[in-house]
Amino acid sequence: MAIENILVLTGAGISAESGVATFRGPGGLWEGHRVEDVCTPEALARDPDTVHRFYDARRAALAGVEPNAAHRALARLDDEWPGELLIVTQNVDDLHERAGATRLLHMHGELLSALCAGCGKKHIWRKSLPPMAECSACGQAMLRPDIVFFGEIPREMERIEAALSACDLFVSIGTSGAVYPAAGFVRTARHYDARTLELNLDPSEGSFLFDESRMGPAGALVPTWVDAVLEER
Ligand code: APR
Repeated sequence: MAIENILVLTGAGISAESGVATFRGPGGLWEGHRVEDVCTPEALARDPDTVHRFYDARRAALAGVEPNAAHRALARLDDEWPGELLIVTQNVDDLHERAGATRLLHMHGELLSALCAGCGKKHIWRKSLPPMAECSACGQAMLRPDIVFFGEIPREMERIEAALSACDLFVSIGTSGAVYPAAGFVRTARHYDARTLELNLDPSEGSFLFDESRMGPAGALVPTWVDAVLEER
């Protein structure tokens, strides 16, 4: 079957070779912090300083980090693929954008922006974000990290579901398949008869659901896959 529409899901593993920490596995972010303390609405209400400091540290850690060959290969696919393409990233870094991807959405929010909990305005934010910072649009002191916390609704789910129902090929790159709804996307893609491919360093919780699962670093697997899919076009 000819491939027309592609949906690519990426997770922390695609940024690992750029030096950005993943969440699970050795040295992962969740080894040093409890999700309940830094990534829930309750944590933000209970101890905003700790939550803001956690995201300030991750924002600062992005300075000097560069996109890697996997991000660049997806940007090339974005540039050259004539059919539908949507890159849905769980990542909150800006490495896909900096590599040149445009058909992209961040379902878990973005580290380099701040969200006003009062008026909903997003602000580009590259420096540290103190609690009670004022929103320049509405004046309320309600700026928070523009991050989807556990227990909150991921962004643009309707757009994602529409793309999943229309895709002929679903490719999952660098994700453990531990967090829903992203972990369920492969099932939805299969329901709509899409082919499914996983490119990951280790087997994930959903590897058994993929038609094909290739193990290895994204920096090697993704450029090879992009070359092939553009070749077969
Ligand atoms: N190349 C490819 N895959 C890699 C690489 C690499 N160089 N390094 C690590 N991986 C894989 C790991 O094998 C693992 O399966 O990336 C995956 C990273 O898994 P997680 O750390 O769980 O990150 P992710 O799947 O993106 O987490 C999903 O959980 O904590 C929440 O909101 C957070 O978006 C995050 C979500």
